[in-house]
Amino acid sequence: MKSQGWNVRIFKREQRSLFGEILDWMLTPLLLLWPISLALTWLVAQGLANKPFDRALVYNVQALAQQVRLGPDKKIDFSLPQPASELLRADETDLVYYQVRGAAGEHLSGERDLPAPPADQDKGSSYEVHIRDDEMRGLEVRVAYTWIRLDAKNQPPALVQVAETREKRSVLAAEIIKGVMLPQFALLPLAVLLVWLALVRGIKPLSELEERIRERKPDDLSPLDDKAVPMEVAPLVVSVNELLERLKDSIVTQKRFLADAAHQLKTPLAGLRMQADLAQRSGSSEEDLKKSLQQIGRASVQATHTVNQLLSLARAEGGGTHVAQQSCDMVLLSSEVLQDCLPRAMDKGLDLGYEGVDSGTLGAQVQGNATLLKEMLRNLVENAMLYTPSTSERQGVITVRVLVDPYSRALVMQVEDNGPGIPLPERDLVFQPFYRALGTNVDGSGLGLPIVKEIAQQHGATVSIDYAHHGPTPHGACFTLRFATS
Ligand SMILES: Nc1ncnc2c1ncn2[C@@H]1O[C@H](COP(=O)(O)OP(=O)(O)OP(=O)(O)O)[C@@H](O)[C@H]1O
Ligand SMILES: [Mg+2]
Repeated sequence: MKSQGWNVRIFKREQRSLFGEILDWMLTPLLLLWPISLALTWLVAQGLANKPFDRALVYNVQALAQQVRLGPDKKIDFSLPQPASELLRADETDLVYYQVRGAAGEHLSGERDLPAPPADQDKGSSYEVHIRDDEMRGLEVRVAYTWIRLDAKNQPPALVQVAETREKRSVLAAEIIKGVMLPQFALLPLAVLLVWLALVRGIKPLSELEERIRERKPDDLSPLDDKAVPMEVAPLVVSVNELLERLKDSIVTQKRFLADAAHQLKTPLAGLRMQADLAQRSGSSEEDLKKSLQQIGRASVQATHTVNQLLSLARAEGGGTHVAQQSCDMVLLSSEVLQDCLPRAMDKGLDLGYEGVDSGTLGAQVQGNATLLKEMLRNLVENAMLYTPSTSERQGVITVRVLVDPYSRALVMQVEDNGPGIPLPERDLVFQPFYRALGTNVDGSGLGLPIVKEIAQQHGATVSIDYAHHGPTPHGACFTLRFATS
């Protein structure tokens, strides 16, 4: 027990909060999306920042390209009339470089170390301007370049390139990112707050439901209103209502049972008191006293029997959960019960016997509780003994059978007698607590068969009642227990 307690403590599952769960599932994606949107914004901002400055760069290349001419010797010639800085619209933030190469790739003007465009690039038509990102003197640069074909004779084209460092562009991109991101910094906490508020509002009907249940009186088992809760919670309320309904039924049954049990005990106790009063009366003869004492004895036996049967039923109802299961040989159990009952059967002149398979036969075993199974059999055999008359003309015969189906290994037990039998309309009623058929003149509490049914159910068996035969009366009773095959 102690170690179980430890287990419970160590492996106790954390109780999860619905509120926390929804909040987690909404906020985590939201927070994950944010860096993604940051990266996307950065990419877009780069593109945007390039656009206006690229246009200026293209203009510069075009202006320089105008200065490339074909000399009188049919050689490519380049001369810059104005100062380069003027033409190249240099500014104070970025450095601008240019380069002009001749048809053979020879350097004609500008920076020598400006990298050449990728060799495999399609040169396009003359004066068509291309743009690329590159590196020069350890700095990132944006380069605009064009190839110029001045004569028709397949001479390789001249190349004009203008490069500009990226400072202005970076500043503009950073500005754009800042402009987009700053409002987001303010919006994100606001979004979290709104989600929080929406959740509080969404979960409110649950708190209201809890409040309504809490406010109920302890004996109020009326159904909860499933229209007053959101659609998603309605199935939960419906199942709680079904549970309440079952609880109500079970409470009614228990109350009825208690009233019946009290009544059942009251009768012999009242008899006891009456007989004691009678015996105490002055002038009662010795004969009367003896009679009263006999009645007192009978009433106390009856009260004790009822109490014992009540205890037995309580044991049977708790048996399924509390008592360990073991393999019980039904043939052995039957013979034990028959042996216990034999003296009383002989007193009454009854023939009590057994038919069926031998002990140890495969399939004659039931997983269960031997004490309860014996209790079940004892009740059936005792009933047969009580309700079967035995006279000199017609001896009462009671047979207990244990049969095993050779194919399915299903186990069937029968207790059969040649008494009056139980007519069809009574066969369900006799399993109800305290129900007793009239006219038997036998003392009893009406709990024997409910005990049988309870124990049978706990061992996966069904009980049915039949006539022993359909010939001339008496028909005899035959109780059949069918165990489910495992
Ligand atoms: N073998 C039987 N033959 C005819 N009637 C029977 C037989 N077994 C049970 N009955 C009828 O079923 C009723 C219910 O039986 P049950 O065993 O539940 O109660 P009881 O025998 O009256 O009381 P208890 O068994 O608690 O002492 C009995 O009153 C009896 O009328
Ligand atoms: Mg009985």
